[in-house]
Amino acid sequence: MEKLIAHLKSQGFIFQGSEIYGGLANSWDYGPLGVEVKNKLKQAWWNHFVRKNTYNIGLDSSIILNSSVWKASGHIDGFNDPLIDCKKCNSRWRADKLIEEFNSEINAGVMTEKQMEEFIKEQNIKCPKCQACDFTQIRKFALMFKTNQGVLEDESSSVYLRPETAQGIFINFKNAQRSLRKKLPFGIGQIGKSFRNEITPGNFIFRTREFEQMELEFFFNPSDEKDWFSYWLNEVEIFLQDKVKISKENYRVRNHEKDELAHYSTATSDIEFKFPFGWGELWGVAHRGSFDLNAHQEASKQDLTYLDPTTNQKILPHVIEPSVGVERMMLAILWQAYHEEDLGEGNSRVVMKLPYNLAPYQIAVMPLQKQQNDQAQALYNQLLNNFDVTYDETGNVGKRYRRQDAIGTPFVITVDFDTPETNSVTVRERDSMEQVRIDLNELETYLKLKF
Ligand code: GAP
Repeated sequence: MEKLIAHLKSQGFIFQGSEIYGGLANSWDYGPLGVEVKNKLKQAWWNHFVRKNTYNIGLDSSIILNSSVWKASGHIDGFNDPLIDCKKCNSRWRADKLIEEFNSEINAGVMTEKQMEEFIKEQNIKCPKCQACDFTQIRKFALMFKTNQGVLEDESSSVYLRPETAQGIFINFKNAQRSLRKKLPFGIGQIGKSFRNEITPGNFIFRTREFEQMELEFFFNPSDEKDWFSYWLNEVEIFLQDKVKISKENYRVRNHEKDELAHYSTATSDIEFKFPFGWGELWGVAHRGSFDLNAHQEASKQDLTYLDPTTNQKILPHVIEPSVGVERMMLAILWQAYHEEDLGEGNSRVVMKLPYNLAPYQIAVMPLQKQQNDQAQALYNQLLNNFDVTYDETGNVGKRYRRQDAIGTPFVITVDFDTPETNSVTVRERDSMEQVRIDLNELETYLKLKF
């Protein structure tokens, strides 16, 4: 992981947040190439789950919502972590994580706080920092970031940064359904920032306090016999395998046990990815029933029911929610793409084998030598109309190939001595490093087919 982080920094993908001021713990900035990958990933998700899915529509709701939303959704009262302090060295730990580390068989999430306290005492669990066994009582630590709206700084002006984009969708269910005259089943997709004051962020961009989510809330009639949970789980796998090329051996599906489910869910499956630090949750697919619409209907006193045109009955739709973090998906993609290759005879290369659709640049154009600058520039300008292209004229050709490999550019086109006479260029593919000679009149068609 250290090597990957260093590589991503040196190549302009991901920088430490606030670096010139000594950084801000667990915050990361996306550099010129990182932002390209991120945007392409979001575009791929949006295309698959919103634009090109016949059922679904999109939304972009606010980050700051009326605080009543978070009261109704259960976040103000229930979205917290159990914290415990070491009395000797004052270091602070998440009680459930402390237990998990001690015994990975135990699912700490399903223990009450009292049970956790007793377990920690009984098992003589030690502070990982100073090895003492003396802890304070467990305290609840709220995960939502709180701030104030307007000039007053009292409780009445308190607002929260959203910890998930989902609630913005539920509170707009009626607006979206009515304005587009949608009939069940249909889904609403949204991409946007979420914030959680995580106690144990880390593992690079795996868990941060500021992150983006790509969430779909899919509404259906509870009497609908189709197994929508399996349908969306399958769509998630199609996306992973076909759209972002995650290999099958790098992920697995884990169904939550009954006692492990979140308060709003009747079934949840996690897609777990084999991260450099072990298996970790990448994508959650949850059956939320009518929990959220029901809660908002009760709290807002608004009618959030849907009138079924066939039975003329008012119903509260049920919901399947596939939810994934943009950065977590980026980490999976970047980690899988990173390769160090021995090319023999003392040569090696670092190559980012990114899926073609997610690479920051699709193509690099280069002149073999200065004499071909003009023609290479003209070709670069022409290709810019239809592709994401970069231009590189500094250093010897070998070095330039390595540079493009290191940032994952799938094709490098070299304009050389023979180009004026033969009206052709060489096209080198990143992974195989094979080179072919292509006629300039056929170049764009050739490249379009490759993408
Ligand atoms: N609306 C449901 C929901 O938010 P979640 O399991 O808490 O469910 C969904 O989050 C996904 O969001 C996770 O599977 C993960 O990919 C991502 N995610 C959650 N917390 C994160 C964090 N602190 N940093 C980065 N990604 C996070």
